[in-house]
Amino acid sequence: MEQRKIIIDCDPGHDDAVAILLALASPKDIDVLGITCVAGNVPLTLTTRNALSICELAGRTDANVYGGCSKPMFRPLVTAEYVHGSSGLDLDDGATLPCPTMCLEAQHAVPFIVETVMTQPPNSVTLCLLGPLTNIATAFGEEPAIISRIQEIILMGGAAISPGNVTPSAEFNMYVDPEAADIIFRSGAPITMMGLDVTHQVLITEQIQERIRNIGSTVSTIVADLMSFYCRFDLERYGMLGGPLHDPCVIGHVIDDEIFNFKEINVMIEKSSALTRGETVSDWWQVTDRPINCKVAESVNTERFFNLLIERISNFPIDQL
Ligand code: BDR
Ligand code: CA
Repeated sequence: MEQRKIIIDCDPGHDDAVAILLALASPKDIDVLGITCVAGNVPLTLTTRNALSICELAGRTDANVYGGCSKPMFRPLVTAEYVHGSSGLDLDDGATLPCPTMCLEAQHAVPFIVETVMTQPPNSVTLCLLGPLTNIATAFGEEPAIISRIQEIILMGGAAISPGNVTPSAEFNMYVDPEAADIIFRSGAPITMMGLDVTHQVLITEQIQERIRNIGSTVSTIVADLMSFYCRFDLERYGMLGGPLHDPCVIGHVIDDEIFNFKEINVMIEKSSALTRGETVSDWWQVTDRPINCKVAESVNTERFFNLLIERISNFPIDQL
């Protein structure tokens, strides 16, 4: 497949961090034009700091990292320290990654997204969205002309036919900023949705953690340590075999489009109900005449995904730092 130009919009977060590393470890497949941060798993000051730390860990101090929106469009921020720890990237023994020395770009994420999509050739930029959709919805509002120039939006979020993970009906990224999600799903841009339907099958078990640790590099050791903290929540709360590696599914699909299978359907976002806020209302059996607006991942070849992840993490040098 040809190299794809992407912007990663994220809220790191353990799984966001692995997604960034997977992208940075795949330069033949992916050109990361910029990493834009949004408030989500933790407040913006921490998601930006964490994105910088991960780029430094990857030895990619040349990456451009931008700070974006510090709260959802119309609501107070809801965070997920109960999953990611107080730093957003806690390690097992309460430790955190070293403070980054890299700096954020001076420009705000929203004008960066607008400028990049407007100046790159039409249909050449893919937006990989790993957090609440606030930055992108704001960019759509500021410059609607970008919508028809986007190659594809690939987002981690929602749950088409699975239960939610933050309420019975909503997935976290959609729940945090449903108004932003609604703007994206109504926009007409080509959307690929990697929801809990597949990400809850991509479990980072102890065996997978060991395969990553055994690579023996600084990056692989830190990824294994991060995963060990991250998995605790799902093991203890849900009895899962490992933590779901949500966000890397987006990057995995950019690199290898045979990992996931999809169904094309209509998805709308519930905004007003207190009970089902942020639900991705998915017309799985086409029982309405609402037009198809989304390709939803319905199954995954987990082995193929983890083989790819482990191969790419092995690309980082053994004596990285
Ligand atoms: C999503 O929410 C966040 O906690 C993760 O980073 C992922 O993007 C999963 O619901
Ligand atoms: Ca995320």
